[in-house]
Amino acid sequence: MTQQFEKVRALTGMKDILPHESAAWETLEAIVRDWLASYGYRNMRTPVLEQTRLFARGIGEVTDIVEKEMYSFRDALNDEQLTMRPEFTAGMVRATIEHNLLYDRPQRVYCMGPVFRHERPQRGRYRQFHQIDVEALGFAGPDVDAELIIMLARLWKRLGLQDIRLELNSLGQQEERAAHRQALVEHLEKHIDVLDEEAKRRMYTNPLRVLDTKNPAMQDMANQAPRLFDFLGPESLAHFEGVCARLKDAGIEYTLNPRLVRGLDYYNLTVFEWVTDRLGAQGTVCGGGRYDGLLELLGGKPAPAVGFAIGMERLLDLWQQSEAEIKASECDIYVIHQGDEAQRRAALLAETLRDEGYRVLVHAGSTGFKSQFKRADASGASVALIIGPDELAAGHASVKWLRQQEGDTRAQQEMLAFDAIAATLKTRM
Ligand code: HAM
Repeated sequence: MTQQFEKVRALTGMKDILPHESAAWETLEAIVRDWLASYGYRNMRTPVLEQTRLFARGIGEVTDIVEKEMYSFRDALNDEQLTMRPEFTAGMVRATIEHNLLYDRPQRVYCMGPVFRHERPQRGRYRQFHQIDVEALGFAGPDVDAELIIMLARLWKRLGLQDIRLELNSLGQQEERAAHRQALVEHLEKHIDVLDEEAKRRMYTNPLRVLDTKNPAMQDMANQAPRLFDFLGPESLAHFEGVCARLKDAGIEYTLNPRLVRGLDYYNLTVFEWVTDRLGAQGTVCGGGRYDGLLELLGGKPAPAVGFAIGMERLLDLWQQSEAEIKASECDIYVIHQGDEAQRRAALLAETLRDEGYRVLVHAGSTGFKSQFKRADASGASVALIIGPDELAAGHASVKWLRQQEGDTRAQQEMLAFDAIAATLKTRM
C-alpha cells in the first residue's frame, strides 16, 4: 500500500508568482530601475526582519499596521521581539542612521521587494505584497516633494497608464497639528453619539484617523470636522504652495483632499496619493509624503526627508489593463534531436550558441519529433534546430524558422553545417 501525503498549501494572502507571470514582473522591474536611475536614485536592500520597536516607534503605536497587521514573533534563541517589515521606510531610515549615510551629503535611495501585513485579503490587498519604495533623505525644500511627484507622473506615462489621479494635502507641523487636534477632539466630543466603538477608542489617541472612517453613519460628522488645513501657519502654507507651483509648471493636475491623512504617523507637511477607479476597492496605487521628524525619532541627527511607496501588484494590475499581455519567450533557439549521439551533438552545439549570446533549450526526455516540435513552438523560440540520424551523418542541422510572418524571405527550412550555424543565425535572426 502506498502512503498518501497531505498537500501543503501557500498561506492565505501570499501568492506564488508563476513562470508565466514573471515576464510582466521582470519587465516592470527593469523599467522601474531605468526610471529611478534617470533621477539619480540608487538601490539599497534592507533586511526583511527588524526589531518590532523600530516599526512601533516609526509607524506609530496607534495605527492599524502596528495595532493589528504586523507579523511579529519572539525569537526565543536570543529573546528578541521581531517583526517582518510591513513597509520599507522605517528600515531604510534605520540603515541611514546606523551607517551615517547623511554625514556629507543627502541621499536619494530606493528599495524594491516584499512587505508583510496581516490584512483581510481581496483583489489588490495581500498579506505578502511588493513595494517600490523611494526616499529622498536630507532634503528640506518643496522642490524635492514636487520632483518625486513629477517623477511618478513620468512613470505612469512610460507605462501608458490611464485614469490615475493625484490627491494632495498638507499635514503641517507638530504645533499646528496639536492646535487642530484640540479642536478636533472637542468636535468629536460634541458628536459622541454618532461615533462607533473604534472611533471612541481612538478619539484621544489618534483623532485624525477617526476622520478616515468608512462608516456611513459618521460621514456627516467627519465632513463638518475642523480641517487641519485651516490651522496651517505661513511657513507650512508657503511649503505647500511651493509644491503646487512646481506641479503646475510641470502640467500635473491634482485635487486638494483635506481628508487625506495617510495610515502612518510619521508624516508632516506634504502628503499625497495616486488613486484610480480601475482597481475596485483598493484603488491607491502609490502613497507618500514628507517625514521630517522620523530620523530624530529613530535616534538619528534631525534631518528632513520625503518619499513614497508604490504597490507593485496594484501597479501591474493597472498596467496590464492598458498593455496587451506581456509575454516573454523561454528561449531563442530550441534544439530537437533523435538518438543518443544526436543528443550529445545537440548539447555541444547549444554550448557554442550560448557563447554567442543566444538563449538555447535542448530538448530533454525521449519523445518523438512531433511532440518535440510542439514543445519548440510552445517555448516561444524563433528557430528550431533539428539533428536526426541523417543530419548527424552529414554534419548538418536542419534549421526551421518557427515564427515567419508574411513577406519573410528566409527559407522556412534549410540545412546548415554545424560549424556555420552560429554565424549564419547571426545574419538571419
Ligand atoms: P502605504 O500607503 O502604507 O505607505 O503603502 C504604499 C502602497 O502599498 C499603497 O498605496 C498600496 O498601493 C500598497 N499596499 C499597501 N497595503 C497593501 C496590501 N495589503 N496589498 C497590496 N498592496 C498594498 C507606505 O508603506 C509608506 N512607507 C510609503 C512612504 C514611503 N512614505 C514615505 N516614504
